[in-house]
Amino acid sequence: MTESFDKIIAEIREALNISESEEALRELRARYLGKKGTISGLMKNMRDIPNEEKPKFGSLVNQLRQDAEDAFQKKSAELREKALEQRLKREKIDVTLDRNSDRLGAMHPLNQVYYEVRDIFRKMGFEVVDGPEIELEKYNFEMLNIPKDHPARDMQDTFYVSDQIVVRTQTSPVQVRTMLKHKPPIRIISPGRVYRNDDVDATHSPVFNQIEGLYIDKGVTFADLKGVLNEFLRKLYGQATVTKFRPGFFPFTEPSAEVDATCTICGGKGCPACKGAGMIEVLGCGMVNPKVIEDCGLDPEVYSGYAFGLGLDRITNIKYGITDIRLLYENDVRFLKQFI
Ligand code: DAH
Repeated sequence: MTESFDKIIAEIREALNISESEEALRELRARYLGKKGTISGLMKNMRDIPNEEKPKFGSLVNQLRQDAEDAFQKKSAELREKALEQRLKREKIDVTLDRNSDRLGAMHPLNQVYYEVRDIFRKMGFEVVDGPEIELEKYNFEMLNIPKDHPARDMQDTFYVSDQIVVRTQTSPVQVRTMLKHKPPIRIISPGRVYRNDDVDATHSPVFNQIEGLYIDKGVTFADLKGVLNEFLRKLYGQATVTKFRPGFFPFTEPSAEVDATCTICGGKGCPACKGAGMIEVLGCGMVNPKVIEDCGLDPEVYSGYAFGLGLDRITNIKYGITDIRLLYENDVRFLKQFI
């Protein structure tokens, strides 16, 4: 009798040895320990056992049940342990690994340079004002002394929303808006997007960024303009920067000038970026045309002022030696991560 019990427990142990899932364990348990299982079946043999041996038989079956139970418990614990081990292995995090700095966000170079420009002008007392990108033709052209037949108004260059409304081609209309609304002294810069119907190439983009500057007060002279712009360009490009004010033309300033600064790429020696000149054009400026001042409701006999407009894309490209404006708008991470 004990022999057959030993055989049963040996059978169970063997089956457990090769069971690798809770599912298999459940099946085995049902087969041996379930209501209709082998061990419960043994109890049914009780009737055929002589009375004096019944207690012994009973206790042996109970012992067998206990041993089987223990074997199942042990195996079940082993399986749980193994599963936990595998899970830990799968979810392991090595906290000593270097973090992936590729994923770190950074400020776009246009923003970096804009903030730099803004801070330089703020320290000189300029306030930042905003203007709309959808603008009245009257402010974008007419009141800036750009007459109806001026080539700048050409449908080829300007995106028209309607007869009287354009997508602004320059930030200069903010000058008009500011003079119409505020009494001098006025000292503002106004950054923003501008739009022109240009085909995209290395130096043209239909959307780009300008920063407009305007100072209106009593007794403002060209010397003030030169002083402020020289200071600005030296702060932005370095103290050794040399500037050159060349006569230029803009309908809303008189006299007007175009300003060159030492080429930052070659330091003035001459290179392909500055076409060998050692200097590169960085902005346009001039004394605000008295007609513009008057049209905005201020007395040009009392007030004078200067204005300037700089291309943010241009000065950013010069600062970093970027030779293709498209890079600023494609958002290629290989480009952007160089400015972290
Ligand atoms: N608005 C001009 C342009 O888009 C740039 C400019 C030149 C602005 C001279 C000015 C200025 O305020 O005085 O080309």
